[in-house]
Amino acid sequence: MSDLDFALEPTLESVVLHDSLKWVFVGGKGGVGKTTTSCSVAIQLAMAHPAEEFLLISTDPAHNLSDAFNQKFGKDAKKVDGLANLSCMEIDPESGMADMALQAQSQFNNDPNDPLGGMFKDMTGSIPGIDEALSFMEVLKHIKTQTAAPGAIADVAAITYKTIIFDTAPTGHTLRFLQLPSTLEKLLGKVQTLSNKFAPMLSMLGGGAAQQQQTQEMLAKLTEIQSQVTEANNQFQNPELTTFVPVCIAEFLSLYETERLIQELISYNMDVTSIVVNQLLFADSTEDECKRCVARWAMQKKYLSQMDELYEDYHLVKMPLLGKEVRGLANLKKFSKYLLTPYDPVVNGGLVFDLEDAK
Ligand SMILES: Nc1ncnc2c1ncn2[C@@H]1O[C@H](COP(=O)(O)OP(=O)(O)OP(=O)(O)O)[C@@H](O)[C@H]1O
Ligand SMILES: [Mg+2]
Ligand SMILES: [Zn+2]
Repeated sequence: MSDLDFALEPTLESVVLHDSLKWVFVGGKGGVGKTTTSCSVAIQLAMAHPAEEFLLISTDPAHNLSDAFNQKFGKDAKKVDGLANLSCMEIDPESGMADMALQAQSQFNNDPNDPLGGMFKDMTGSIPGIDEALSFMEVLKHIKTQTAAPGAIADVAAITYKTIIFDTAPTGHTLRFLQLPSTLEKLLGKVQTLSNKFAPMLSMLGGGAAQQQQTQEMLAKLTEIQSQVTEANNQFQNPELTTFVPVCIAEFLSLYETERLIQELISYNMDVTSIVVNQLLFADSTEDECKRCVARWAMQKKYLSQMDELYEDYHLVKMPLLGKEVRGLANLKKFSKYLLTPYDPVVNGGLVFDLEDAK
């Protein structure tokens, strides 16, 4: 289906009912509802395509997929209880980073005091964005080993999971991995220069041949990583394959941050067609509303109308603030329905207090 079919519907249909999307990123500032939204998108995708498999990944060290589903997830993909074609995975970027440093160390020399091993660490430490870059490589590697599929990392999603949904971390570094190819290019250049510089010295110290070979291996490995990453990035910049869904709330700061995020995404050539505005009060309906909610709703409406104007070319999805946390599959299912059918407070208002208690 083409995006035109859904022109500016205030829903996520263009994401959920899309047939070609392989990667869906959900992002935004802390606490706005990224996890709730990414779970909801994943659930709706899984329900809309029952014959396909979906994977929801959290790269946030705070790991709230387990909390959202009331089910323990870890670094291996595990099916969501009660939804046979959705799996979740929680990856710790920090431990990925530690693994990578260790791996580099042991790969290039067993001696931690070795100049080359140390050099690798110094270099990776000195390039901005390399932490996030390596973390993301770790994520892709995990997906790869999960599916044990042959071929390039980028093929994996096509082979096993129809779509992989990312619940991204709320930090400002979420998007650094999009700069990964150029980051790695810089790293490669640095390794090359440094190894040329140190080669004579190392051979003077003896053991030069072995060192030389290790350097070559390191270069080969980095080159391989770089080509895989370039391929993945080509996919991330292809709107048929990848989209980013910003989540925000109707407040000044959030609106401002969202605009910044969107500009950043555009600069990375990443597709954004839909924005989720979460936690709306919809407090128009008379007597049972308290003054506080009425006042906050008036404020929310002010920012909503600004967004309606600013984002008239986007699908602006307006989600209600419910009376409880949105936890557990049953509640997430109820909530996520309104990603596809615009929430109407008069007709659907019962949803607000119609949640099951989380276990
Ligand atoms: N529309 C909503 N109605 C009621 N509760 C909500 C709604 N959206 C989110 N919540 C609740 O608010 C809390 C924060 O939501 P969530 O974890 O999705 O935010 P987040 O953006 O992922 O936060 P973080 O930045 O900490 O990862 C959760 O307890 C969630 O259940
Ligand atoms: Mg979260
Ligand atoms: Zn109130």
